[in-house]
Amino acid sequence: MELYEWIAPCHFGTEAVCKKEVQKLGYDIVQVEDGKVTFRGGLDAMCRANINMRTTERILLKAASFKAETFEELFENTKKIAWERYIPRNGKFWITKANSIKSKLFSPSDIQSIMKKAMVERMKEHYKISWFPEDGEEYPVRVTIVKDIVTVGIDTTGVSLHKRGYRKMTVKAPITETLAASLIMLTPWKYDRILVDPFCGSGTIPIEAAMIGACIAPGMNRHFLSENWTVLDAAGYYKDAFEEAKAGVKHDVEMNIQGYDIDPECVKMSMVNAGLAGVDKYIHFQRRPVDELSSSKKFGFIITNPPYGERLMDKKEVNGLYETIGRTFRSLDSWSYYIITAHEDAERYIGKKADKNRKLYNGMMKTYFLQYMGPKPPKKPAT
Ligand SMILES: C[S@@+](CC[C@H](N)C(=O)[O-])C[C@H]1O[C@@H](n2cnc3c(N)ncnc32)[C@H](O)[C@@H]1O
Repeated sequence: MELYEWIAPCHFGTEAVCKKEVQKLGYDIVQVEDGKVTFRGGLDAMCRANINMRTTERILLKAASFKAETFEELFENTKKIAWERYIPRNGKFWITKANSIKSKLFSPSDIQSIMKKAMVERMKEHYKISWFPEDGEEYPVRVTIVKDIVTVGIDTTGVSLHKRGYRKMTVKAPITETLAASLIMLTPWKYDRILVDPFCGSGTIPIEAAMIGACIAPGMNRHFLSENWTVLDAAGYYKDAFEEAKAGVKHDVEMNIQGYDIDPECVKMSMVNAGLAGVDKYIHFQRRPVDELSSSKKFGFIITNPPYGERLMDKKEVNGLYETIGRTFRSLDSWSYYIITAHEDAERYIGKKADKNRKLYNGMMKTYFLQYMGPKPPKKPAT
């Protein structure tokens, strides 16, 4: 089988879990860089990654990587790419996004139009036609230029992978599904441990956790751009990958996942969303302010995304809320708690330094994933 390189872009700071997902699928890692993981595999890799991966926004087919400091170099190197290996004569192709960091070429619109021209030139020579109808399948191209190195990828996904299809109702400041899944996977939580999100909003963290626990592949009920591609014909691989995902769902898992919020509308939304995701039976949602959180159970997990102060509350209120968080979470003896926040002084108001503090980017927003690790539960005696 022919092998290709695939790029999985992820949130900055979550590369480790993105890499782990690729390895779990059985593919070789080529490179891990800030915000992306490159791996090698056949067309099956594209299909299985699109359907199963929780931490990436999309899967790109890496078409080339080259150095370009001038538009001429950009044009010539883009023209050298064997676009006909991927795009048929009636394909619709364009540069949908161009990002440039610390590079001589930086104007996205110029990069886009020069590369499109180069693609047309290459395809004209190959297909021996001078006009392209572009009425076939779509081949959007994404380009990143970092320190003059251009990486060219064809988007195999289409609508971002964070759009799982279950979040029909949303709150003012939701966390993306991909980031929520990454946070859960950055912790040692497993389906047999209690998980509570006391600031559940639209329910993203509990829902993603339940999907992980029940092995529900996030993309098993949606479509991908590359499903109908013709030159790279992956239809058979998609069929197998969808069947594999369906067969992998566990229907008999016992999980104790709870989502709370002070706002009754959020609780309603979470319930609707969990129903759409097919995980409502695993999660208990209820209206409850954080200071009323308590549990007689031991060794639970809290993974949560409280208000930061920017979008939902003013600074003074937020500082008071973080003091309450500190008091309440500490009273849960033996629990581990994990908090994603953009609040620079969160640890100070929580009243305890985190065991680990990982910097993550939620889009352009710098956030901190504060990790307070409780003790491990004693090993169950062998029976
Ligand atoms: C940043 S949002 C959480 C978003 C959520 N992760 C999602 O993806 O939808 C913070 C949530 O905290 C809730 N909240 C604010 N103050 C609270 C309190 N004292 N107790 C419980 N929930 C609170 C808000 O209603 C809001 O839904």
